[in-house]
Amino acid sequence: MNDIPDEEKMQIAEAHKPILEPIEEKGFILDIGGGGEGIIGQLMGNQVISIDKNKRELEEAPSDNLKIVMDATDLQFLDETFGTAASFYTLMYMDSETKQKTINEVYRVLKTGGKFLVWDSEIPGEKPNDKVEFFVVPLQVKLPEKEIGTGYGVRFIFQDKKLISEMCKKAGFELHLKSEKDSMLYFEFIKK
Ligand SMILES: C[S@@+](CC[C@H](N)C(=O)[O-])C[C@H]1O[C@@H](n2cnc3c(N)ncnc32)[C@H](O)[C@@H]1O
Repeated sequence: MNDIPDEEKMQIAEAHKPILEPIEEKGFILDIGGGGEGIIGQLMGNQVISIDKNKRELEEAPSDNLKIVMDATDLQFLDETFGTAASFYTLMYMDSETKQKTINEVYRVLKTGGKFLVWDSEIPGEKPNDKVEFFVVPLQVKLPEKEIGTGYGVRFIFQDKKLISEMCKKAGFELHLKSEKDSMLYFEFIKK
């Protein structure tokens, strides 16, 4: 999805192999940063409203669910609209201020008792050497009916499980479930 830089400029993480099951939600699911592979759209089809600030990324996403160009820090939805929101490897593309604003906005548009599902990666705070500029996560995503191989790369912006948990708690979320393997993170947060 991004231009591929020289390998010497990349730190490549152990591949993440998330296994996604259908999301238990009868209404709409808001997908934050749902362009690119649009994994949540591929998983849950027309139940998903994908928002992304980059129109081209939305155009590239293969599923035909509703897609809207929108900044996650300023969601154009009423308070308490959704029962579920998801972020699949999107927070890693945001600096800390943008992440916190986004999480606050997700909290606002979720109904009380609503869930925020987050798949993401830890990113080390320090680069291994001066040549390295990008942190790259290869992914093998298992959906119920297919597997998708992809990779997401970013410039080094530190994030770990503690940072994401604390930002969500600050917004008002309660941590319901967490799993981690190497740098791979999965969280379910609930709006109290
Ligand atoms: C690597 S993609 C995430 C992968 C994607 N969810 C998928 O299923 O393939 C990250 C996306 O987040 C989007 N993004 C980053 N910051 C954003 C923001 N403030 N508002 C909306 N989208 C944002 C980027 O445009 C990019 O399309």
